Amino acid sequence: MFPPNIDKCLNVEDFRKAARKRAHRMVFDYIDGGADDEITLARNSDVFNDYELQYKVLSGHANPDTSTTILGEKIDVPFVLSPSAGNRLFHTDGERGAAKAADKVGTVYSLSTLASLSIEDVAAMTKGPKWFQLYVWKDRTLVKEMLDRAKAAGYTAMILTVDLPITGNRERDPRNGFTIPPKIGLKQIWHGLQAPYWCLDYVTKPAIKYANLSQDTSAVTLNEFVAEQLDAGFSWDDAEWLLGEWGGPAVLKGVVRADDAVQAVKSGFNAISISNHGGRQLDSSPAPLSALPAIRDAVGGTTELIVDGGIRRGTDVLKALALGANAVSFARPYLYGLAAGGEKGAIAAVEMIANSIKHDMVLLGVGSIKGIDRSFIKKRNQY
Ligand code: LAC
Repeated sequence: MFPPNIDKCLNVEDFRKAARKRAHRMVFDYIDGGADDEITLARNSDVFNDYELQYKVLSGHANPDTSTTILGEKIDVPFVLSPSAGNRLFHTDGERGAAKAADKVGTVYSLSTLASLSIEDVAAMTKGPKWFQLYVWKDRTLVKEMLDRAKAAGYTAMILTVDLPITGNRERDPRNGFTIPPKIGLKQIWHGLQAPYWCLDYVTKPAIKYANLSQDTSAVTLNEFVAEQLDAGFSWDDAEWLLGEWGGPAVLKGVVRADDAVQAVKSGFNAISISNHGGRQLDSSPAPLSALPAIRDAVGGTTELIVDGGIRRGTDVLKALALGANAVSFARPYLYGLAAGGEKGAIAAVEMIANSIKHDMVLLGVGSIKGIDRSFIKKRNQY
């Protein structure tokens, strides 16, 4: 059995299939899966099909400019990479692959608190802009320590993720006996026979762990870990305390309601990430694209909005921009690339999306990101 051929991947679904081929089933399902019946997971992508792009003809834009700014950072593409946990589970290259992919296309890399490489190591791997994602830990000293480390290492913004007070009910994980770090029993060995390259890395490369937590945790399920370590009772007052501790640009991630978005601005967040954690938390929560127009109307034109969830194509990015997003973000596309082919795969997946945005802007008849407004989009059957 040969490893998947990354060069043959033409779209995100090809990378997904390649990832399924190379990665151990428990880690592929951890990337791929969502909560409960995975209704939100599917809706996040499907909702893009409810919209049509109203392209302009003879607009004279042969070489559109895909660059924009977000939180004062100039980026070459209208997306940033979403944070995602434990990337070395998927491929031994881990967060390095994703950070290099962001660097390659000239955008921001967001490092998760639960990364499997350290804040400092990832900072040293690329020169590109980086943001640091935080969960709300019960241990406030740990929170302060991590923020200080992120500041010292040059991360320019904080992303506070607030849609994970506890973990969603992801049924693929217990079925696979998935823990972090992975525990290897009979089922895992059986599945491992179908993932020899992943297994070879697993036994020959440094152990997989949460690199930014001082104590080594023993193999536990994500649910147990989160219930033990994170503060489900965190409130707006606490969020404001955290903003004070950080003292720099900050994004509130995981918002789907207009009233929460308005409160986020009042509390002092500079940008809002409209997200339902990739359908991994509360099933039946709205797709971010559906939540976007009402949030844009509620916060007005100046607050920066980042939309994630279900982005797979350049046209998805253009639809989100047309409905009022300043930029989008995504994790699964680069994680499928990473799981399929390490750093090379992550770079290929992200470059593919970057290229398709430019290509689709030519077809849309628009010359700049700022030029993409609501005139370019309509809901199907609402003409
Ligand atoms: C997830 C958390 C840890 O697995 O971000 O979705």
